[in-house]
Amino acid sequence: MLTGDRPTGPLHLGHYAGSLRNRVALQDVHQQTILIADLQALTDHAGRPRDVRQNVLEVALDYLAVGIDPSVTTIALQSAIPELAELTMLYLNLVTLARLERNPTVRSEIELRGFARDIPAGFLVYPVSQAADITAFRATLVPVGDDQLPMIEQTNEIARRLAGLAGRPVVPECRALLSATPRLPGVDGRKASKSLGNAIALSASPDAIRDKVRAMFTDPGHVRASDPGHVEGNVVFAYLDAFDAQREEVEALKQRYRDGGLGDVLLKRRLEEVLQALLAPIRSRRAYLARDPATVLAIIRAGSERAHSVADSVLADVRDVFFLNDNG
Ligand code: TRP
Repeated sequence: MLTGDRPTGPLHLGHYAGSLRNRVALQDVHQQTILIADLQALTDHAGRPRDVRQNVLEVALDYLAVGIDPSVTTIALQSAIPELAELTMLYLNLVTLARLERNPTVRSEIELRGFARDIPAGFLVYPVSQAADITAFRATLVPVGDDQLPMIEQTNEIARRLAGLAGRPVVPECRALLSATPRLPGVDGRKASKSLGNAIALSASPDAIRDKVRAMFTDPGHVRASDPGHVEGNVVFAYLDAFDAQREEVEALKQRYRDGGLGDVLLKRRLEEVLQALLAPIRSRRAYLARDPATVLAIIRAGSERAHSVADSVLADVRDVFFLNDNG
């Protein structure tokens, strides 16, 4: 099992619902590697390398705070594993420019970032580097949100082209492990994103949680508590569905909201309680770990060492396919 996160800011509830929760739940049954994808982060943050560097520690703290256990999960830093760069270079020969331009996630990211004609070349090819990330650990399971499905598809295309070239499978194909909430909206109803500032960070303060919940988009047609309201497209219900364990109560609230008679203030108060309860232990664990960054960095260093030796053997297999191993 393998996933990664770009260290471009603190991880948020979208990461938690879409992927982190699954990683924690499955770390005892699957051999798991998690990459802090700093090279991928540079593909659209090349102007702010210092930020990327600083966020490596922040992301690692988020992992440990939510319960990723470094004694069973390998936490590694992408840039500390040079095999990934070489694999990327080789895989680039197995994809076309047209295919890269068709990736819907990359397309929407290009639009979101306003790259227009100035797309960094590295950004366009990051799905290929992600294919290297996944295959370098012979991963078969990738716990991600649904925005990452196009990356899985491209990875499998590369795995198949490699197999075609070799006349036998070289790296396994993989599949996405989607959570029950593969896409949590931002508080404004748009895609949750670090750059839009519409996400709730796992490290958010109690005040920030309260403010973000109060600002949440509900149903603009639901003016008085007595008005019937819409549940679909209502961000508060999307979050209750993702995080409120009292399923039956949530269903009853939805009914009341639809019928009219449930106000946004009351509804948001419930969500705030749920989120405060979820994030309080994560915040305190994070604060505790943050006092000793050297230990966290040592965990990343040890994980990167381990990851490096696995990736090394996969790279040797891929080099074989391209006749790059015999030196005489
Ligand atoms: N693209 C992923 C994201 O933006 C991060 C990532 C990098 C990743 N390498 C990966 C995800 C490998 C899954 C597998 O969140």
